[in-house]
Amino acid sequence: MKMHKYEEIWLILSVAVIIIAMGITGYQAFALGMGPPSHKETIDPAQVDSTAPFDKPGVYEVGENQYEVVMTLEAFQFVPNEITVPQGAEVTFIMTSKDVVHGVNVPHTNLNTMVVPGHIQEITQTFHESEEFIMICNEYCGTGHNMMSATITVEG
Ligand code: CUA
Repeated sequence: MKMHKYEEIWLILSVAVIIIAMGITGYQAFALGMGPPSHKETIDPAQVDSTAPFDKPGVYEVGENQYEVVMTLEAFQFVPNEITVPQGAEVTFIMTSKDVVHGVNVPHTNLNTMVVPGHIQEITQTFHESEEFIMICNEYCGTGHNMMSATITVEG
């Protein structure tokens, strides 16, 4: 009879631990935004080259001082890998991966995101200073990971 009581207590405890852990994870994911990137748009990674807009990667002027960079990521390159925009431009990067998870980081800016295959990631950055930035991959993606980079030239 006594053992029975202990079993009951342990059962309640273990269920409680699971519920608490789920609660913490859920709070982090939804309230603190720490979950995997939540993308609304999905894409077939095998069909990137034939799916608009990624069938035509490049830099597009979409408004006054507004630009879109349609970019594909794959081991181990960004396409395009040379981007030129004017100073003060608000640039929206529209990105997807053709293979594995890559990271996109432009040091000295707030631009830092993950790009997950099957999803379309958008991130906007305004470049106020006329200078050359380097975009790097900061998510290990294979043997050529540390060579994966692109340049962003902001022309004054
Ligand atoms: Cu792509 Cu690391």
